[in-house]
Amino acid sequence: MKALVYHGNGEKSWDDVPDATIVHPTDAVVRVDAVTICGTDLHILKGDVATVSPGRVLGHEAVGTVVEIGPGVQRVAVGDRVLVSCISSCGVCRYCREGSYSQCLGGGGWILGHRIDGTQAEYVRVPFADNSTHPIPDQVGDDQMILLADILPTAYEVGVLNGKLRPADVVAIVGAGPIGLAAVLAAKLLSPSHIVVIDRVDARLDIARKIGADITVNNADQDPAEVIASLTDGVGADVTMEAVGIPATFDLAVSLARPGGHIANIGVHGEPVTLHLEDLWIKNLTLTTGLVDTRSTPTLIKLVASQQIDTSSLVTHRFALSDIEQAYDVFSDAASSGALKVLLSNDAGVR
Ligand SMILES: NC(=O)c1ccc[n+]([C@@H]2O[C@H](COP(=O)([O-])OP(=O)(O)OC[C@H]3O[C@@H](n4cnc5c(N)ncnc54)[C@H](O)[C@@H]3O)[C@@H](O)[C@H]2O)c1
Ligand SMILES: [Zn+2]
Ligand SMILES: [Zn+2]
Repeated sequence: MKALVYHGNGEKSWDDVPDATIVHPTDAVVRVDAVTICGTDLHILKGDVATVSPGRVLGHEAVGTVVEIGPGVQRVAVGDRVLVSCISSCGVCRYCREGSYSQCLGGGGWILGHRIDGTQAEYVRVPFADNSTHPIPDQVGDDQMILLADILPTAYEVGVLNGKLRPADVVAIVGAGPIGLAAVLAAKLLSPSHIVVIDRVDARLDIARKIGADITVNNADQDPAEVIASLTDGVGADVTMEAVGIPATFDLAVSLARPGGHIANIGVHGEPVTLHLEDLWIKNLTLTTGLVDTRSTPTLIKLVASQQIDTSSLVTHRFALSDIEQAYDVFSDAASSGALKVLLSNDAGVR
C-alpha cells in the first residue's frame, strides 16, 4: 500500500510500505476514504516532536471503511463507515474509565501518526477499535466528519468546556486558524453574547465573521483590550481562549480575561511562557490546559448530523490522496494559499 512517510529533517514522501494488518486482537484495519493534514504534522516535520521516529506514517485524522477486524473486536464490523479519532483509548485504564482518553495508560492516547503508523495512507491499523472509532450517520459527508477527528472536539473540550463558557458571556478567541475557527463554531453552541476573534490575518478574520464571530480584531492595527473593555464595562472577557501557542498570544489571552474569568489554553507551546502571578494572584482567575480527550465526539457527531454545526466551510482545498505531497505544500503555505483544512480522498471524489 501507499503511505506518507516521515524521513526526519523535514523530509517526507508518498512511499510503498507494508500493508496495514491486524497485530492485536482488538485492532481493526480501516481503508482510508478521507484524511486531512494537521498543524501538528507540520510541527513533526520541523522536528518539534522528538517522539516521532523517521519511518513513521503520519496522520491522526480520518474517515474510512473497516476492512478487517481482530477476534477481540465486538462493536465494529467489516463494512462499517467510521471516524478514526486522533485519540485512541484502551477503554479500561483509570483515565479511560473517567473519560480522559488523552491520558490513557493502556497504550492509547495520541498514538496514530506519532508512536504508531497513522492515517495518511491507503489503510491504517486502528488499535482498540471498539473504543477508538465512531460510527458515522449516513447523511453526514466526509468533509463534515473529518473535522470531528481532531479540531472540533479540541475547540469544544479544551476551549469551550474547559473555559466554562456560559450563555451571555463575552468570549475572546486569540488565533483564527482552524482551531480558533472551530472554537467559534463550538462557542456558538453556548449562546455567548459576543464572540470576539483576534488574529493578524484579515482573510482569516473574514472567515471568522462568516461562521459566526460577532466582532473581529486585527491586533496588528487595533488594540483588542479596548474592544473587550468597551463590551464589558471595562472589566474584561468572561472567557478567553488561546489558539496559537506562542508567548505573545498567551499573554494576550491572560490580559483580556476579567477578574474571576477563565483562560482556556488550547495552543501547543514550543517554548517557555511566563505566568505573571505577581499580577494575577489577586484576580481569581482559572487557567486550564489540555490535550483533547475526544470524549465529546459522539455529541458533536449528533450536532453535525442534525445540522446544528456546519463544519464544511473549514475545508478549503481538496486533493486525491495520491497528491498528498502537493496538499502538504498548499497547507504549509497558508499565507498565500488561504488553506484552512485540506481534504484528501482516496478516490478523488468526496462523499
Ligand atoms: N490542545 C490540543 O489538544 C490541540 C489540538 C490540536 C491543535 N492544537 C494547537 O492549537 C494551536 C492552533 O492550531 P491551528 O491549526 O489553528 O494553528 P494555525 O497556525 O493555523 O493558526 C494560528 C493562528 O494564529 C495567528 N497568529 C499568530 N501569531 C499571532 C499573534 N501574535 N496575534 C494574533 N494572532 C496570531 C495566525 O495568523 C493563525 O491564523 C496550535 O498551537 C496547535 O498545535 C492543540
Ligand atoms: Zn491534529
Ligand atoms: Zn486507557
